[in-house]
Amino acid sequence: MPDTILLVDDNPKLLSGASLTLEMEGFQVVTAVNGYDALQKLEDLVPDLIVSDIMMPGCDGFELLEIVQTRPNLVTVPFIFLTALNDDASIKRGKSLGVDDYLTKPFSSDGLVQAVKSRLERARALQTAHTSRAYIQMLQLLARAIESRDSYTGRHIERVSGMSQALGRALGWSEEKLEQVRLAAIVHDLGKVIIPDAILNKPGRYTPEEYDVMKTHSAAGADLLEPLKDILPVVYLAVRHHHERYDGKGYPDGLAGKAIPEVARLIAIVDAFDAIAYARPYREGMGTSGAAKVLTQEAGSHFDPEMIKTFQTLLASPTFLRQISEG
Ligand SMILES: [Fe+2]
Repeated sequence: MPDTILLVDDNPKLLSGASLTLEMEGFQVVTAVNGYDALQKLEDLVPDLIVSDIMMPGCDGFELLEIVQTRPNLVTVPFIFLTALNDDASIKRGKSLGVDDYLTKPFSSDGLVQAVKSRLERARALQTAHTSRAYIQMLQLLARAIESRDSYTGRHIERVSGMSQALGRALGWSEEKLEQVRLAAIVHDLGKVIIPDAILNKPGRYTPEEYDVMKTHSAAGADLLEPLKDILPVVYLAVRHHHERYDGKGYPDGLAGKAIPEVARLIAIVDAFDAIAYARPYREGMGTSGAAKVLTQEAGSHFDPEMIKTFQTLLASPTFLRQISEG
């Protein structure tokens, strides 16, 4: 779908010239001869960008911008002034009204195209950032919902999140990646929303059939996160693969060794450590040293042996142990 631009100017020659220039660049252009005409067009149209002259009879560019900003469906549409008025007062007034850019007449075709493209790119980048933020907040809400539903979890999610970041940091991962690791740790069991309460909260061991149902949670969680795959790839991979095993006997894809995404290998270690170390309603925890022993025994079969080594180094630190017991 080409971007739609509303072009407003009372000079017919300029309007047709600029319109042609933008159409040749692949934009869809709707024209208006003054502010009133533009407002009429905006009744049925939400353009990707408005380019408007300032000095026009009747409703001028300033007035048009002010009215556009009162309309909820138009308030985020970027707005460029196209004007011969490059005096300070006009620029100041435009800025105070929140105009995004100025293009001073006479302008070249290249200048117009450049201004339009860069403003659209900026608007798109902002849109992506807003969408990502909204998704992240939604994810955190979902994580809280899971936490309150699953009676065992208690502080499990907080501890797993703290330990995952500590282990990632010890492995030399970037801060940007660690932020995704934090989120991944919070939502890694997101897919449990589809597991019936009777299975999720069952005290004691699962039957093979119940275990099969339980195992669907990692792929189900990944399906829920599909729209986020490109925005938060680390989170997506952690959710899908946190039950893979280093020997290839895990699920859902039976990946082995380094073919398992590293964030999933990390979450697997920390998640298992926490589950073994701390008590659940139906069984005692083995404590941190007991859990550390189990993990060492399973290095190379269940867990990545190199990551286990780094994790053991962390566990030898009294500060780390104090942090997780407080976590
Ligand atoms: Fe899980």
